[in-house]
Amino acid sequence: MSTPLLEFVGFRASFTDDRGRTSVGLRGVDLAVGRGQTVGVVGESGAGKSLLLRAAFGLMPPGVRLTTEGSVLFDGLPITPARLRKTDLLGGKVGFVFQDSALALHPLRSVGFQVGEQLRLHTDLSRLRRRLRVFDLLASVGIEDPERVAKSRPHQLSGGMRQRVMIAIAIAADPVLIVADEPTTALDNVVQRQVLLELAATQERTGAALVLVSHDLGVVAQVTEQTAVMRDGTIVESGPTVTLLARPQHPYTAALLAARPSLRGPRQGSVAVQRPLASDQMEL
Ligand SMILES: Nc1ncnc2c1ncn2[C@@H]1O[C@H](COP(=O)(O)OP(=O)(O)OP(=O)(O)O)[C@@H](O)[C@H]1O
Ligand SMILES: [Mg+2]
Repeated sequence: MSTPLLEFVGFRASFTDDRGRTSVGLRGVDLAVGRGQTVGVVGESGAGKSLLLRAAFGLMPPGVRLTTEGSVLFDGLPITPARLRKTDLLGGKVGFVFQDSALALHPLRSVGFQVGEQLRLHTDLSRLRRRLRVFDLLASVGIEDPERVAKSRPHQLSGGMRQRVMIAIAIAADPVLIVADEPTTALDNVVQRQVLLELAATQERTGAALVLVSHDLGVVAQVTEQTAVMRDGTIVESGPTVTLLARPQHPYTAALLAARPSLRGPRQGSVAVQRPLASDQMEL
């Protein structure tokens, strides 16, 4: 088998608080994401989903003392702080989409500037080409009037539009991996579905691998070929999404599934999650 694009090997993480007390966040995670593969990471709040991806890419908030063991490999090589500082990993080969666009986007800069900034930092396009590419990127994530949106500041846009802008920023430099951490949770159902479709279409068009983090198995099932179920800092079950939905092995997966009746019922065993996504397959 070829080298996975992203691989966690016995990855553990623990926090140390101000008084020197430690608490375990991740208890040994093994997970591989192949090139172009779509992998869902699902589990209840506090399971460690965000921690897994943020710790891997050095994206913990300032002031958090985290000790890690085991390794995370990108393209077969460990992701080290030095590699994160020196190379074009974050924002270049790896694009992140976070849940809270209101926090992740700069409030005072126009959307066009923020998308363009990724291009300035991670490509050698000329200024004019960058400008045109910004419009293309915004259009490619389903924004109908990219020139107007490019001039807007984040607060002038709806939550769904802001999430699309975040996807545009994440894919600006043609990443080989897109990590989306609860990218649709803050949105209402209809918009959630639209943004998810844009994300899936973007992944398919670019051929990038996608790691989609969600507490909602329903969301993950719409988009990913593989699913890993996390609980209490570890992966309790993983495998092809279709198999996992049809024959959950772990009681916790079964419980998650029971909470989403629309994923079972008559379609059980032949759940339609294969791509391309048809709108009638979306049951969010
Ligand atoms: N700064 C911190 N200090 C101490 N513990 C933390 C810190 N940040 C997160 N944790 C703990 O790490 C564990 C995993 O948190 P994480 O945010 O990864 O959960 P999650 O699965 O992403 O949940 P959610 O679905 O709510 O986003 C939780 O038990 C949480 O309390
Ligand atoms: Mg989270």
